[in-house]
Amino acid sequence: METQIIRIREEDIPSPKMEALGQIIRNGGLVAFPTETVYGLGGDALNPESSKKIYAAKGRPSDNPLIVHIADLNDLEKLVKNIPDTAGRLADKFWPGPLTMIMEKSDIVPTETTGGLSTVAVRFPSHKVARDLIKASGGYIAAPSANLSGKPSPTLAKYVCEDLTGRVDAIIDGGDIPIGLESTIVDLTGDKPMILRPGYITEEMLKEVLGEVLTDPTILDANCKDRPKAPGMRYRHYAPKGDLVIYEGPSETVIAKINEDVKAASDQGRKTGVIATAETAGRYSADSIKCIGSRENEEEIAASLYRILREFDDEDVEEIFSEGFSDSGLGRAIMNRLLKAAGHKTKNLWEEA
Ligand code: TXA
Ligand code: MG
Repeated sequence: METQIIRIREEDIPSPKMEALGQIIRNGGLVAFPTETVYGLGGDALNPESSKKIYAAKGRPSDNPLIVHIADLNDLEKLVKNIPDTAGRLADKFWPGPLTMIMEKSDIVPTETTGGLSTVAVRFPSHKVARDLIKASGGYIAAPSANLSGKPSPTLAKYVCEDLTGRVDAIIDGGDIPIGLESTIVDLTGDKPMILRPGYITEEMLKEVLGEVLTDPTILDANCKDRPKAPGMRYRHYAPKGDLVIYEGPSETVIAKINEDVKAASDQGRKTGVIATAETAGRYSADSIKCIGSRENEEEIAASLYRILREFDDEDVEEIFSEGFSDSGLGRAIMNRLLKAAGHKTKNLWEEA
């Protein structure tokens, strides 16, 4: 399949190029596009054949449901059976934006889109290019992140092109992505709202609107025996090619231990990489040292994480050593993704301190 690559930035909206891209989706084709969180791989959410194509293009298991993206709040009532009052309150506060809500699906949403479930995940993105594409497509775009299954979600158009050229009809190059981690997912179908995937909208922010909010216990505890409630959280995700280990402990202890382990790996002829912070980057020696941002600025860390994991892949780094981050606020989403990328391999240096 030939893939058109079309550059549209937020400042180009409204763009005369959008109508033809919307037509591709209406005709059952696939278009990758920018959102404020990560790039998405979009198809007509109400067309079962489009959803099948999305799974095939990504190499994703078809029991892992897709998020349906809308660009008009009035469309929500067409997708879900009834809108819980919690959804209305969250939409008022956080939509358009990086929040996905799970509700009972209506009959127009095919089970191909929901991975066989009777619920549907809905998101109203804030990115102008995403919103205009959704409008041009007729209203409902199913879109997972625009990476091949198992790779870090793309935050730069070049990584979308690397993964999906030849597999989709068009890719919109919308430039760099502001947030860099996927949306927060909250399930509104149970007795109490529950966070299934942490993201930019934090637990604290949700609690301000809803009062009590639960968190899927599997997010907090890697040894938890339950199955994650979001099917996608069950798979090993975001995996770099190299072996990644996270070091947690007092800063000086972490720096010393990482340098020691880098040296041991280098001595065995392995190519080494370190994920450091602005505060510590000068303290390491390794083949590739990446500064993920300042500990004072978690948004910067979130926005850099996936790019850095991809860069290590490009450089064929074989052993990656990362500092750990706090588990509160946005840090929870950062650590959730980093831990998954590491297959939960951590070294806890707190006791040794
Ligand atoms: O920020 C985002 O959410 C991005 C952009 C493109 O919008 N999309 C994204 O989609 O991250 P994806 O497919 O990579 O992740 C969707 C997650 C998966 O873990 C999936 O299992 C879960 O949402 N999910 C979707 N529908 C669900 C449902 N009905 N019940 C439980 N989990 C659901
Ligand atoms: Mg994904």
